[in-house]
Amino acid sequence: MRCQTGAPLDRLPRFYYCACHVRVHTQAPAKVNLHLQILDVREDGYHNLVSLFQAVSLYDDVELATGGQDGSVSIAGDFPFPQESNTIHRAATLFRDKAGVRDGLRVRVHKRIPMGGGMGGGSCDAAATLLGLQELFGRPLSDRRLLSLGAELGSDVPFFLRGSAAAIVEGRGERVTPIAPRDDFGLVCLFPGIPVHTVDAYRMLDEMRRSVPSGAQAASRDSIGSEYMLPVEQWSFRNDFDDVVQRPEILRGRDMLLARGALACRLTGSGSTLIGLFATPGDADECIRRLPAGPSFPGAIVVKPLAMMPLVG
Ligand code: C5P
Repeated sequence: MRCQTGAPLDRLPRFYYCACHVRVHTQAPAKVNLHLQILDVREDGYHNLVSLFQAVSLYDDVELATGGQDGSVSIAGDFPFPQESNTIHRAATLFRDKAGVRDGLRVRVHKRIPMGGGMGGGSCDAAATLLGLQELFGRPLSDRRLLSLGAELGSDVPFFLRGSAAAIVEGRGERVTPIAPRDDFGLVCLFPGIPVHTVDAYRMLDEMRRSVPSGAQAASRDSIGSEYMLPVEQWSFRNDFDDVVQRPEILRGRDMLLARGALACRLTGSGSTLIGLFATPGDADECIRRLPAGPSFPGAIVVKPLAMMPLVG
């Protein structure tokens, strides 16, 4: 990245960047959970989990620039959330605070990832903001510090910061083990048009388990990693939220994907988006062609599993 004078930014003192009003554009990719097991409740009230995260080719655009009123963070974009409670604002404020940045920041966002859909839209925007600000201000924070800020912002954020398009995620979400990503299988994501609130989904799962405790063993990292390498039809991955998040729109969406050739269909995260799995990207394209178009299913999209996270720049 270069400033307007053409000098490489990493050779300039930081106050100089502030005068440059440079701009960084980041693509924030969505994720799907190919496997998600929710384990015990922790002392901090969160749940331990074990999950296989895969980044996919559906992106929000986040553009960051210095400027505007000194000390303020302003966000322009096509999303309905109040400025101060959205994850971009929280990430930018935390970063400025910890990195000692005083400049005002202007952020432009173009959202494509469904909100309340379990595809990590808020978390990848937060991660893209942290990564973009690192570039904009000459990497003032260590990778380790950035990961810990990410974990403060949300349980899924560390995955998006880690830089691997596939990873096994444990703990509350902060333990991320990268694995070699696959991009040879097909995925259709179906957003049924209704959001699911993560807090409610966890509460429903806890309630169900008070009467029917889960007897399932937590899958090990090794077993998840080796199963991921098998043909998709041999995967026995699961999502524990499938047992409790059962709105009619979701059940109908699952039937439609299975009837149109999906080898398996489950929620991603706590929903509401369904993922249909296919042996090849071509099979996923064929499923989309056979889905009814129109308002009954506004959110059916073929996404590709990513082999690489997008670069910031
Ligand atoms: O960390 P994040 O903001 O994504 O979490 C949203 C909510 O989901 C938390 O308030 C908590 O109720 C639940 N959660 C959990 N255990 C996790 C992740 C999320 O209980 N590992």
